[in-house]
Amino acid sequence: MSASDSDRARREELSTLRDTLSRPLPELDARYFYDDRGSALFEQITELEEYYQTRAEHSILADRGEEIMRDAAAVSLVELGSGAGRKIRLLLDAWSQRDDGGRCVMLDVNESFLAASVRTLGERYPRCAFEGVVGDFSKDLRRVLAPSPCMTVFFAGTVGNLYPDARRAFFATLAASMRPSDSFLVGVDLVKDRARLERAYNDDAGVTADFNKNALRVVNQRFGADFDEGAFEHRAFYDDERQWIEMRLRATRASVASIPEIEWRRRFAVGDEIRTEISCKFTRRSLERALAGAGLLVRAWHADREGLFALAHCWKRA
Ligand code: AVJ
Repeated sequence: MSASDSDRARREELSTLRDTLSRPLPELDARYFYDDRGSALFEQITELEEYYQTRAEHSILADRGEEIMRDAAAVSLVELGSGAGRKIRLLLDAWSQRDDGGRCVMLDVNESFLAASVRTLGERYPRCAFEGVVGDFSKDLRRVLAPSPCMTVFFAGTVGNLYPDARRAFFATLAASMRPSDSFLVGVDLVKDRARLERAYNDDAGVTADFNKNALRVVNQRFGADFDEGAFEHRAFYDDERQWIEMRLRATRASVASIPEIEWRRRFAVGDEIRTEISCKFTRRSLERALAGAGLLVRAWHADREGLFALAHCWKRA
């Protein structure tokens, strides 16, 4: 990225930040959880008893990794939002093409996590070429190029963080970049009873609460905001009409927050809320419908034994 590109990217980011914070229900994009501290907190979340998603996805990959790699017949892999880069190993282990010139590109917003995964994966799989691209899956797909057949993987249910319109745009951009033999493997959390879903976002140890509040610290650090982190509490609930978990921060005392650079200032009264994340839950049908809108067809559906989580493997419709 050139200096002017990154200037433009920052200006765009600031203007989006201003828009979202100025809504009647102010909102912060979920990407603001993930500085080094937030990424580490998310790693802790994945180990919580209440948070079943990571274990469920892991078990699917362990059981079905070989089948998935056989179906994909890929010479390259692209992982979107790779984080600590641990799950991809289950696919790399099952990937026979890996040792004859396999390429694996990882895209993530967190530069240090990315650098660490490229390094450790490179040591573990010396004949495979790893590359890290710092970027955002909703904007930087076009910067990733890998030879066909390529399988793009998007783990963890992170696609659920997109609102339906952004998700449509994302699937459409992805489908436009896919060649006939390329495939897309996407992990989604499945619709289930409310109590189970809500528990996963309201853990007893309060790790998710810290993770949620971390968004304020990130915005303070990155944009010179002055949110009072101690004036907000964590809240997470399931909206069963929209089939998503919503995370919010609720003011427990009055405060004022401002970001001088974008001339934004807002007074928070007790009870006022900021939405920090949505996390959409799917059924096989609702995901198939969303993918079909972009011309993507699910050819294999891999769910864990308990039906908590699924990986959908899809191709472009011929
Ligand atoms: C990594 C986006 C899938 O939505 O469940 C965990 C993030 N948020 N606890 C999710 C998260 C609260 C997670 N994703």
